Amino acid sequence: MTFISGDQAILHIDLDALVANWRRLGGMAPQAECAAVVKADAYGVGAAEVGKALQKAGCRRFFVAHSEEALALRQALPDATIHILHGPTMGGEAELAAANLTPVLSTPGQIAAWSQLAKKLGRRLPAALHVDTGMNRLGLSEAEAYAVATDPSRLDGIDLAFVMSHLACSDEPDHPLNRQQADSFAALRQRFPNLKGSLANSAGIFLGPDFHHDILRPGIALYGANPLDPSAGPRREASRMAEVVHLQGKILQVRSVDRGMTVGYGAGYIVEKPTQIATVAVGYADGFSRALSGRGNAIIKGRQGHVRVPIAGRVSMDLITLDVSALDVGDCPPGTPVSLLGGGIDIDEQAALAGTIGYELLTQLGRRYRRIYKSAA
Ligand SMILES: Cc1ncc(COP(=O)(O)O)c(C=O)c1O
Repeated sequence: MTFISGDQAILHIDLDALVANWRRLGGMAPQAECAAVVKADAYGVGAAEVGKALQKAGCRRFFVAHSEEALALRQALPDATIHILHGPTMGGEAELAAANLTPVLSTPGQIAAWSQLAKKLGRRLPAALHVDTGMNRLGLSEAEAYAVATDPSRLDGIDLAFVMSHLACSDEPDHPLNRQQADSFAALRQRFPNLKGSLANSAGIFLGPDFHHDILRPGIALYGANPLDPSAGPRREASRMAEVVHLQGKILQVRSVDRGMTVGYGAGYIVEKPTQIATVAVGYADGFSRALSGRGNAIIKGRQGHVRVPIAGRVSMDLITLDVSALDVGDCPPGTPVSLLGGGIDIDEQAALAGTIGYELLTQLGRRYRRIYKSAA
């Protein structure tokens, strides 16, 4: 029996908007293939649901971080190409090959292990190659990559699909490292003339044709956050994406709090005038950042339209408190939905108030929400 709790928060996920975002990004580089990055359960949104919706729209290639994520996604997408950004796990290579997964090889050791497995199995195995061009995080060094290019026997048994690199500062379009990485990647591709190339994440797509190459790897922009940093200035308006995620909590009760009284744990929020406080059934155990205590906003639809109200006091485990004095009394009875992310609350603005980025707010979306996926298809 399904118990539909009256106070359970609802996470609306608009798969049509997500598909529209994917099509828009792909349309910006029509000669390239637009893949999708669905690691971390598709940035908290649901990898199986997102994967199926995108596959239906024509997406054939998906990126995850971990082997476990790839194995789980394989159940949902039996025919798609699934890349593992962390590469084959030490000792787990055979399982990945059996599931027809395509790891991204980032170290000489991973290349050797994948090649050895191919020899052992007596069949060629697919892979991609990650080369670092300035991020210093994952990937072969340029010297290691050139060593592979000059001694292709290291790749015995491996069918390389493409060579990729990752941009460190693409969200800041004017950062000089973007150009340096683009130049290094272009030079690297000369060493692997027959291989396709992949460089652009979401923000990289907005940097223009020099960054597009053959395979696009957008993540965050698919999920509706703005890929560009505020430092991008007016260009940021053009990179605003369609809203995919809308989190609605519900009001449990409203109380009048007199001047001088305090709200919530720590008694740090002191009411300066008679105030109406609404308590909403969402907290940090739902992934709602505690850093939004006394800083974040919510939106309630009242009779006079949508009203933005501040979070008053600390976010606790299962509850937040809002100052709803701006609403008419009677506009927020128990059960009233409150938008906490989306529905007028911009993910990136809310993230900035929490001192973080939209990526973190999304990937922490909790498992207690009732998830409703919208798709006309
Ligand atoms: C290697 C790689 N490619 C692409 C992406 C997608 O990046 P974004 O979410 O900024 O589009 C990521 C995400 O961090 C990544 O690690």
